Amino acid sequence: MKIAVIGAGSTYTPELLEGLLQEAEVLALQEVCLHDINGERLEIVGGLVERMVKAQGSPFQVKRTLDRVEAVAGADFVLTQIRVGGQEARAVDTKICLAEGLIGQETTGPVGFAKAMRTIPVMLEICRDLRTHAPGAFLINFTNPAGIITEAVLKHGGVKAIGLCNVPFGMQAAVAEECGTVPEEVELDYVGLNHLAWVRRIYVKGQDRTEELLAKGWGKPANIPELAWNSDFQRALAMKANSYLDYFYLQDEMLARLQAQPKTRAEVVMEIETALLEQYKNPELRSKPKELEKRGGAHYSTVAVSLIRDICLNSGRKHIVNVRNSGALPELPPEAVIEVPAVVDAKGAVPLAIGRLEPQIRGLIQHVKAYEELTVEAAVTKDYGTALLALTTNPLVTSINKAQRILDRFNEAHQLGLVKA
Ligand code: G6P
Repeated sequence: MKIAVIGAGSTYTPELLEGLLQEAEVLALQEVCLHDINGERLEIVGGLVERMVKAQGSPFQVKRTLDRVEAVAGADFVLTQIRVGGQEARAVDTKICLAEGLIGQETTGPVGFAKAMRTIPVMLEICRDLRTHAPGAFLINFTNPAGIITEAVLKHGGVKAIGLCNVPFGMQAAVAEECGTVPEEVELDYVGLNHLAWVRRIYVKGQDRTEELLAKGWGKPANIPELAWNSDFQRALAMKANSYLDYFYLQDEMLARLQAQPKTRAEVVMEIETALLEQYKNPELRSKPKELEKRGGAHYSTVAVSLIRDICLNSGRKHIVNVRNSGALPELPPEAVIEVPAVVDAKGAVPLAIGRLEPQIRGLIQHVKAYEELTVEAAVTKDYGTALLALTTNPLVTSINKAQRILDRFNEAHQLGLVKA
């Protein structure tokens, strides 16, 4: 079995390898091929990964390459974790939005739009490589905005793909910790889109513990500013919201908080990454350093590796993933990508039937899905009007004039090549 990692220069890669090392035997893993376009980062991150694997007795081979076709060729799984334009582009885009008094947010917000516009063409090139050099391989996507990118790949890439996020498993793990059990004993009735989802019921060892656990409230990821919720609203909603929903539910407060911060999240992440890469260079380091927890991606490895394992073992176990709707949520288009529990086996992931949505969550899900659909279309067609419609359909973009100004600035900063009809 061969796994290719595209964007392996990411500081997250050692975390992934930690998980692969634990499951190497079950997966019958023979080779992990690391690819990046940045040779320096590939050397630093790849060097640490090689030392980690060697320290465990080299249960599989690690290769590094700058040649994407070589990485993908003959792979069974291709993991995509790319960041087109790097954190620098995230910083530029965030400042463009803040200058207009808009929340940027690089997943569900307009910064996510700009990232999707840069990323989708590259992801479709990766899909082309898979079709030619690794037909039948699964593409496992972590690249943000994960829901939009997975939708673009499934609609236009012609490959088998599943999108992943660490947040649903993070919620499961938090419940498990609270109840003194393991995440496998926790089942979430989870519904929505990536970073726009709600837990409607919580079962622990088959018992419904929703009311009691909602009253407790869990910790927020390190990368999202902490804001207090109105307790009457939480009681009325009677669901646990994905933390990223704070950008929508507390839009004004969140904007004020972001505007008051001395640095954007991208700038903070650049500093964390510089420090991490310095540590990775240390030839004595043979494991993932603690500081990696300052990024928001806890459990990333568990999520990816357990999904790959359940595909390989044809297990039929449930995972919360980004998958084609196919009628599971009748109030959304069948080809839309949704983040819901799905049964995973050798053929991939099939979403469980969810049925109708409660009105208090239906509107926002449909609204954001329409924005995501238009974003995919704009990235593929390069049509300026479609891009403008996409941005104005994003609930975090509060005026068509602001939408047009930020679109023009994204277009210019990243040479998106949008064309007016
Ligand atoms: C969370 C999100 C991911 C995000 C990650 C890192 O895990 O689910 O989508 O990429 O945090 O965020 P950061 O702000 O550290 O780049």
